[in-house]
Amino acid sequence: MPIQSPIWPAQLDHLRLNSDDPSMLADFYATAFGYRSASLADGTCLLQGPGRRIVVGAGQPGERPYHGYRLRDRGQLEDVRNFLQGLGLNTEPSPSVIFEDDAVAVRDPDGWLSVFGLPRMDLPSHPVDNTRSAVSLSGRLQHVVVATDNLEQMMAFYEDTLGYVASDYCAADVDDADTRKVAFYRSDPEHHSFAVFSASEVRCDHHAYEVDDWNAVRDWADHMASLNIKLWWGPGRHGPGNNLFFMIKDLHGHQVEISAELEVMPREMAPRVWPLEERSLNLWGPGWIRD
Ligand SMILES: [Fe+2]
Repeated sequence: MPIQSPIWPAQLDHLRLNSDDPSMLADFYATAFGYRSASLADGTCLLQGPGRRIVVGAGQPGERPYHGYRLRDRGQLEDVRNFLQGLGLNTEPSPSVIFEDDAVAVRDPDGWLSVFGLPRMDLPSHPVDNTRSAVSLSGRLQHVVVATDNLEQMMAFYEDTLGYVASDYCAADVDDADTRKVAFYRSDPEHHSFAVFSASEVRCDHHAYEVDDWNAVRDWADHMASLNIKLWWGPGRHGPGNNLFFMIKDLHGHQVEISAELEVMPREMAPRVWPLEERSLNLWGPGWIRD
């Protein structure tokens, strides 16, 4: 009998990115991904756009100290807290300045911190701007991905402990579960809010914004072109998730994805297995096989 984890539904609400020059990184994201910035009391920068928000702060370049998942209400938050503590996990105080103080955080085997909480209701506002710009382009922060040299333990944590629902795997041999190399997990009906790729080391992989449609993918690519930012991968269509995509790199070399048409999978649907090959990662062309 599979566990019915209370971490459903949960959506990626925000994440924090660190930099040795946080104002430079914040300016990059504001320009490239259409964010308005506001300073927070703790010295970090809150970037907000339509359906998207991230926090930029001081630290090691390219660090991503936590991923914040938004829950439905306080009852669900209490259920999640009791669930995590009932499993004997060491919950931690929330580092998020976006969530209310009672958010609960838990660290995975590679050290990534997931924070589950409810957003504060007093976040800074910005005046409406109806001129056409990146700030008016659709792009909801939707998923975050990590790379690991410890895939088996990471899959066990997200799948067996937290009860995230597996949507797809990629495997060297589709008939042999021991050869899995990638796992995509959902925490609501969207195909994945989190994924983990086997690689030579623990590192950030990418985060993604879900846009309205293919035309919005074009508009974002044209916007990147206007800034002389090259597409690093794509446009293409992923096999797992069936989403249209392209990626660019940020100032610290981290991949950021624009996505559309991400598959919707009800909670009851069983995971599928794809062969680990270029075509699975990009049905249209070259694949990015992690090293
Ligand atoms: Fe992605």
